[in-house]
Amino acid sequence: MSYLVLARKYRSQTFDELVGQQGIVRTLMGAIGAGRVAHAYLFTGTRGVGKTSSARLFADALNNPQGDVELRRAILTGQDTDVIEIDAASNNSVDNARELIANSVYRPMRGRKKVYIIDEVHMLSMQAFNALLKTMEEPPEHVVFILCTTEAHKVPATIQSRCQRYDFRPISAAAIAGHLGQVVKAEGYSAGDDVLFMVAKLGNGSMRDALSLLDRLMAGGEKKLTSEHLERLLGLPDGELVGQLLEAVCAGDPAGALERAGELLGKGVSVDQLLTTLADRLRDLMVIRACGEQTELVELSDTARAQSASLAGRFDPAALVHTIALVESVAGRARGSSFPRALVDALMVRLAMTDRLADAAGVVMRASAMAGGLGGGGISATGGGSLSGGSVGGGSPPGLRASGSGSGPKKA
Ligand SMILES: Nc1ncnc2c1ncn2[C@@H]1O[C@H](COP(=O)(O)OP(=O)(O)OP(=O)(O)O)[C@@H](O)[C@H]1O
Ligand SMILES: [Mg+2]
Repeated sequence: MSYLVLARKYRSQTFDELVGQQGIVRTLMGAIGAGRVAHAYLFTGTRGVGKTSSARLFADALNNPQGDVELRRAILTGQDTDVIEIDAASNNSVDNARELIANSVYRPMRGRKKVYIIDEVHMLSMQAFNALLKTMEEPPEHVVFILCTTEAHKVPATIQSRCQRYDFRPISAAAIAGHLGQVVKAEGYSAGDDVLFMVAKLGNGSMRDALSLLDRLMAGGEKKLTSEHLERLLGLPDGELVGQLLEAVCAGDPAGALERAGELLGKGVSVDQLLTTLADRLRDLMVIRACGEQTELVELSDTARAQSASLAGRFDPAALVHTIALVESVAGRARGSSFPRALVDALMVRLAMTDRLADAAGVVMRASAMAGGLGGGGISATGGGSLSGGSVGGGSPPGLRASGSGSGPKKA
């Protein structure tokens, strides 16, 4: 038998299996229950979040309330005569639209409704859209249109206003990871939470993209999936080494930070990728520091979350803001630089020595305050101190700015 990719093999067979779109499902089912089914729907949202699946399941709910298994299978696989699925990308002409309109007058064969699912509807030509306007406004009472698209803005406003619109949201990494876990098990593989979360996160809200990546990972042949496999497959930095690098930064250990960065680059990770990963990890630490360990603003497995929380607790929140700004500015400069490695190494030392740089700033500030102190420098010292604290988000070390503010007393 030919191999079926995971995304197709595990297409939701019931609304209960559809992940992360409960609000939409509730409204659609409520409409059926209340006898308030509209004549035209527009399902929109990014790729692989369940629009086509929902259209088929809704058609099934409309025409197969008794839950007949055979009929459901026919509807979900596009074999049922009353549920007509049209790929607008390859049937986009005005003639295709006229044919559809001509056929729509015939009553459904066995169901209550004749359901037209027009997939990728934004691909229809303008004439095709115009031809459909009249029918979309007042279709025969046995017809329901479900238009699906990733690009609602390409659907004319005249069509949109004739439809009830549903916006499918990107699916959270936690919800995707949960689904991936079930698929992995059903396929006879095993995987830790951390790798499932990494795959889920790389799906960027799309279940199909996450499942496709899982397919590639499984093709590696190992029955136990790990984050190392994924890192190797995609050339991602070794997560554990990145963790050790951050530990070194936190411990104020420039040698350790340099060595870990060297190891990562030695494994073939690009400078850009290293800095992106670093910024990503620092962002998680900062958000956890600000919002607490359980915040939904970071998408991590339980283990990774606990590790991040313990590391975050050792950082000063303001210092985290400062480090992200530093990484960002170095990433920008490294892209056009002929010596990116030197920039990365300088960054490592700078991050690991932030405390000492801040101390140095304090020393400079106190010195300048004392110099000005002959003329009542006490007030300027506190003024300078608060300024230096506020400047941590900037690209330059706090020390430099603080000494600049030391010129204040001279004016006074
Ligand atoms: N919400 C979801 N819950 C579970 N699986 C999903 C979900 N969304 C997508 N999938 C998986 O992704 C596959 C594609 O889903 P579907 O065709 O419904 O996406 P779509 O939103 O229509 O995408 P596109 O815009 O690319 O056409 C399904 O077969 C299923 O495996
Ligand atoms: Mg689709």
